Amino acid sequence: MDKFVIEGGKRLEGAVRIGGAKNSVLKLMAASIMADSPCEIRNVPDIADVHIMSDVLRNIGLGVTFADGTLRITPATDPCLEVPYHLAKRIRAAVDVLGSLLTRYGKARVAMPGGDNIGSRQIDMHMKGLVQMGATLGVSHGYLEGEATRLEGSHLSLDFASVGTTENLLIAACMASGRTVIENVAKEPEILDLAMFITGMGGRIEGAGTSTLIVDGVDRLSGTDHDVIGDRIEAGTYLLAGAVTRGKVAISGAEASYIEIVMDKMREAGCSVEVSADEITVTVPGEVNGVELSTLPYPGFPTDLQPQMLALLACARGTSFVTENIFDNRFMVVDEFNRLGADMKTREHHAIVRGVARLSGAPVTATDLRAGAGLVLGGLVADGTTEVYDIQHIDRGYEKFEQKLASLGARIKRVPADA
Ligand code: EPU
Repeated sequence: MDKFVIEGGKRLEGAVRIGGAKNSVLKLMAASIMADSPCEIRNVPDIADVHIMSDVLRNIGLGVTFADGTLRITPATDPCLEVPYHLAKRIRAAVDVLGSLLTRYGKARVAMPGGDNIGSRQIDMHMKGLVQMGATLGVSHGYLEGEATRLEGSHLSLDFASVGTTENLLIAACMASGRTVIENVAKEPEILDLAMFITGMGGRIEGAGTSTLIVDGVDRLSGTDHDVIGDRIEAGTYLLAGAVTRGKVAISGAEASYIEIVMDKMREAGCSVEVSADEITVTVPGEVNGVELSTLPYPGFPTDLQPQMLALLACARGTSFVTENIFDNRFMVVDEFNRLGADMKTREHHAIVRGVARLSGAPVTATDLRAGAGLVLGGLVADGTTEVYDIQHIDRGYEKFEQKLASLGARIKRVPADA
């Protein structure tokens, strides 16, 4: 395993191109199982999760090649309707395969999914929706086992606007009989991207991006070509890296309207964030001040940028209050920030951040993907050397993280963890 070694104190300056969205492409890959001819997906980031999801598809029997940011996926001739434990435990999005397999083949056996260490990550809502659509579902020996002759169009309403549940049920509805209406769905841009992908395959979906989805099931879906939307979380991470180091960073390849609330919070803290036709540029003209923020489903502040925002607030003037409403264990990073000299306390799902004059480099551990990104940002501004361990979490979601940061002037190296 590797670690990052960061020499802090360097102002970042320059431009960086944002890649395709991790949390979109993984769901497009799951949906491609439904196609009866090849799919081509472009603007795909070269990250570990894409490789794991490729193995999930290959295990089912699909053909998958990935080169130059393009995935080519061909249908399975003799499908194996299973996701084994050694793959499912490595990736949360494996659960999305459940909807695809059930709706296309009427059968699925998927090991209970894994993913980040950020909370309990239930799948009860996924299961409830699929059962309402007529599937027989049970858990046996750690596997979700489902069957349905044909899923039935139904009227569903989610208790909470869960991203994964919305995607799984949207996929399942595409080849169900008749019309499915799903209320109180998530409105994340990645769901809109998934709906556009499936529409390109011949699916019939209305309401994507609103809180009600209306899906008319079809008998077959064909392959399609699609460009993945830019990764709004990667975009926010580089803007925050610029702000944390009081630098000047311009990003391209991401849609500004998808990170409106992030830019607003950064401005409230004292950053200047300017949007032009092809770039978003951050600078910090004066002091950074503490703010209050709460993570919420889109269009609220994304939980996936909460740790990177903590890195900015760690050295802000005054006290910040951060409330985490999506995951019950996403403040594990606070203890790691405190190793860097931050002054952060948590109480239930709130963090109180008293800004300190400066951080000091230390060894820290990336407890999950976004925590890892937040700690790297902390290391960029800390005095001396910061070592970030367990960076395999960061590799799940950031393409060439250290190269992109180094191109902005950061002093960051990847070395073996025991070096
Ligand atoms: N939940 C339930 N029951 C369910 C489903 C969800 O209680 O059946 C709860 C979860 O336990 C959690 C909350 O609902 O507390 C939100 O979960 P959601 O289903 O919305 O999230 P997800 O689909 O598991 C995706 C992203 C996450 C991102 C969240 C929220 C993927 C692969 N993951 O997770 O991304 O934080 O939506 O936006 O798309 C990341 O990229 O670092 C990451 C964790």
